[in-house]
Amino acid sequence: MSDEFGQEQAIRKLGPGRLVIASHNPGKVREIGELLAPYGIETVSAAALDLPEPDETGTTFIANAELKAMQAADLSGLPALADDSGLCVEALNGDPGIFSARWAGPSKDFGLAMQLVWDNIAAKGPDAGHDAHFVCALALAWPDGHVEVFEGRVDGTITWPPRGDKGFGYDPIFQPHGHAISFGEMEPEKKHGMSHRADAFRQLVAAVF
Ligand code: IMP
Repeated sequence: MSDEFGQEQAIRKLGPGRLVIASHNPGKVREIGELLAPYGIETVSAAALDLPEPDETGTTFIANAELKAMQAADLSGLPALADDSGLCVEALNGDPGIFSARWAGPSKDFGLAMQLVWDNIAAKGPDAGHDAHFVCALALAWPDGHVEVFEGRVDGTITWPPRGDKGFGYDPIFQPHGHAISFGEMEPEKKHGMSHRADAFRQLVAAVF
């Protein structure tokens, strides 16, 4: 991170103690808690502290992760970690991007969201490319307003029809480069070793511990 004069600033370290996971998704909270346990970090969820869920009004993954983490740190008086992720299709100028969850509609129908992705690529014509990437932004904020951000990604191709039921979201139509199967067909341990989330967490762990 650099300051207003372009000077490199040291990344702030995270000491042992309690950390708020600024998410109301129990699966995410559990997964992040497990990842951080070896570093002496005890996690508590935003829901357990009755913290409100802010509107994701940012225009980038980083901005949305930052606003969630900063609000949770401010209201709780503890450091807080938030993530924001999604699928970006190059032929669709990065859509669904930060709107990845919203493309599934109020009933969270990812069959519909995947069909929308495919139909939108098809509407671009036969020459439209199928390149895509997943992004995961992580923001770690402190109550004094300091924030560190990390962004991970994994590149691949959109495939059709959807394949596999091991993952979630857009996994059945995403085939990572260098592999012959979709994330939906991949064993979770294997996906977790190469995913956008794994990439972002590797960066965070290397920087703040
Ligand atoms: P959020 O970060 O909780 O807002 O989630 C964004 C959306 O992106 C999720 O609802 C998923 O649809 C999609 N997404 C994020 N990561 C993945 C992934 O690893 N596989 C499939 N879909 C994902």
